[in-house]
Amino acid sequence: MSGLREELAAALAWARQRSTVLTISVDDADLVAQHSPLMSPLVWDLAHIGNQEELWLVRDVGGREPVRHDIDDLYDAFRHPRRTRPALPLLGPDETRRYVDEVRDKTWDILDASTFRGSRLVEDGFVFAMIAQHEQQHDETMLATHQLRLGRPVLTAEPVPSAVAAGDPGEVVVPAGEFDMGTSSDPWALDNERPGHRVFVDAFAIDTVPVTNGDYAVFVAETGSEAPQFWIDDGCGNWWRRRFGVLEPVPPDEPVVHVSWFEASAYARWAGKRLPTEAEWEKAARWDPVTGRSRRYPWGDDPPGPEHANLGQRHLSPAPVGAYPDGASPLGVQQLIGDVWEWTSSPFTGYPGFAAFPYREYSEVFFGGDYRVLRGGSFGTDPIACRGTFRNWDHPVRRQIFAGFRCARDL
Ligand code: AVJ
Ligand code: FE
Repeated sequence: MSGLREELAAALAWARQRSTVLTISVDDADLVAQHSPLMSPLVWDLAHIGNQEELWLVRDVGGREPVRHDIDDLYDAFRHPRRTRPALPLLGPDETRRYVDEVRDKTWDILDASTFRGSRLVEDGFVFAMIAQHEQQHDETMLATHQLRLGRPVLTAEPVPSAVAAGDPGEVVVPAGEFDMGTSSDPWALDNERPGHRVFVDAFAIDTVPVTNGDYAVFVAETGSEAPQFWIDDGCGNWWRRRFGVLEPVPPDEPVVHVSWFEASAYARWAGKRLPTEAEWEKAARWDPVTGRSRRYPWGDDPPGPEHANLGQRHLSPAPVGAYPDGASPLGVQQLIGDVWEWTSSPFTGYPGFAAFPYREYSEVFFGGDYRVLRGGSFGTDPIACRGTFRNWDHPVRRQIFAGFRCARDL
């Protein structure tokens, strides 16, 4: 018996359950509609999830005949920009569901038969975990599409936990020195997280919590900057927000979300600070001053539990700052994992010794472009696609992702 096999089966089933929730909660017209030119129709994401699974698990690892030989082009993200996808002759909702089910049936056989030996692709179950991460990444993208869609609320989740009195939010000093950045040993880490390498980071200070809505509202009022996406001014000096179809007052103590990198940078400058670099963020999150080693997560190497971080669409918004004291890093930095993706000042590049694996289009083709790195995951990121080394990236103008930030400064 392999514990690995069960773990991978559970991860794949969990991802599919989430994809199903995100796609049965709206009607067919909504599934094929484009809710923003920045996003695909939900039905495209679902078929693309199945197509990636077919390409890697059914055809490559399984060596099986194609399930559908005729649709690879339609669901190739590089052939068709998002805004053009609704005009493609896409599979309809029912056909898409049949397709992903058929692929998944074959996946179960291939997972059952795998020895997890014989190629780097299957070693430690990497390719199965990669496909589960891929599905969860698209699930987060679909959640962002749900946020953009107009209409009545269709998703439900538990309310976020309240803040535990965790003292005044402030900043901590991270002393100068080297630390281990990235990983060479995490079996399911993706290519851009590798290889692990030593990085010297000068002393700096970083905020213990992300910038909140309340903080950001002061910045907007004082500078005339644009409010975050989905905020609505009620005309009487109060901010409301539309969140998954619910109109509610903006909670002042939650991390701000749906701001661009430009806006985050401007806020930091206004506050007399700056965004952390990617290396600073990771050192604050992973470096243990007692042992000198880097942890998998701020709280240690244990997988994220509900007490550590707001991940996986367990809640439908960020939680107030101070809600996860058990998720703090050794230096006392909180909510690094979950709640909101955090913009860093760093452009997206490969680490020294980077090697694309298993395909250049996951990371390498984005290196050197107009992208900034985001770290830490959001309330919409599943734990399988989130760890202290995980790197996300987007264009600095983008606001539809679940992105906020925290500030840092030189000493
Ligand atoms: C890592 C979130 C930037 O969604 O564009 C999904 C993940 N790559 N399919 C994206 C991804 C291929 C990627 N991000
Ligand atoms: Fe994809």
